[in-house]
Amino acid sequence: MKGEILKLLKETAGYISGQELCEKFGVSRTAVWKVINQLKEEGYEIEAVRNKGYILKGSADVLSKEELESTIHTKWAGTQVAFFEETDSTNNEIRRLAEQGAPHGTLAVAERQLGGKGRRGRVWTSPAGVGIWMSMLLRPQIDPMAASMLTLVMALSTRRGIEKATGLKSEIKWPNDLVLNKKKICGILTEMSTELMEIQYVIPGTGINVNQMEFPDDIKATATSLRIESGKIQKRSEIIAAIMEAFEGYYDTFIETQDMSGLIEEYNANLVNLGNEVCVLDPAGEYRGVSEGINKEGALLVRLSDGTLKEIISGEVSV
Ligand code: BTN
Repeated sequence: MKGEILKLLKETAGYISGQELCEKFGVSRTAVWKVINQLKEEGYEIEAVRNKGYILKGSADVLSKEELESTIHTKWAGTQVAFFEETDSTNNEIRRLAEQGAPHGTLAVAERQLGGKGRRGRVWTSPAGVGIWMSMLLRPQIDPMAASMLTLVMALSTRRGIEKATGLKSEIKWPNDLVLNKKKICGILTEMSTELMEIQYVIPGTGINVNQMEFPDDIKATATSLRIESGKIQKRSEIIAAIMEAFEGYYDTFIETQDMSGLIEEYNANLVNLGNEVCVLDPAGEYRGVSEGINKEGALLVRLSDGTLKEIISGEVSV
């Protein structure tokens, strides 16, 4: 009932009378009053006026299943939300849900991760209350070789969602980091399960630094948050909802061709260091070249000083 009352409060421009809520849910006035108080405690600013009823005036940065379900308005991306106050990793939660048959588009969100995973076996610091730690369940019927491009699709969606919800224009650092003023605000770790060369599911897991004001020493110099960059607290549920909306559109475009051909232009237009010299961190040895953007397979094209063009399929690039 809490979720439905919240939804009604959000959808109604004026007041909703206590009587109307009692009748709708078949409960007493005290029961309605208790739910309203719970919502207030969570951070919703609800005004109660005698003879008129309740009205939602605003809210803090609340993150809960009810908040997400009343904010996400998509066809399939994130319409099923699994919310955790605390978990090891939302990627692990989605893996567990996938094994139990959860549908395509299921979203797991956590307030805090105790075992947040980064790329290349790194730890992803995921403290409570300040970040978006979320993973999605995808069941695409595509060649497993094409699955890594879903990470790029998620990077594009996250970039657009952040801009829509906050106005901040971040840039993509190939393959899938987002940066603001050259500092990292988002990372994506995609995991996959295949059987007999068929994809069972793909899990893009996204971490976004939203309301942190400081970072641990080891990432202090290279990380920033949306709050630091904008000077104000941002609402995580609105960012997640905007990302889900963007993802639905980009995913359809990707599935049509099962490559990046329909998305290259937008990806490259938002790529940090396009046309600049970058350093490719290849395990066989670092080298430098000029970034020419991605091709339709999602590889980064780097022009070396002798004129040859290198296609970087995996790895990392720095300035
Ligand atoms: C990176 O190293 O840049 C990728 C970081 C990915 C972090 C996210 S947070 C949600 C999901 N759960 C995890 O354990 N990792 C990803």
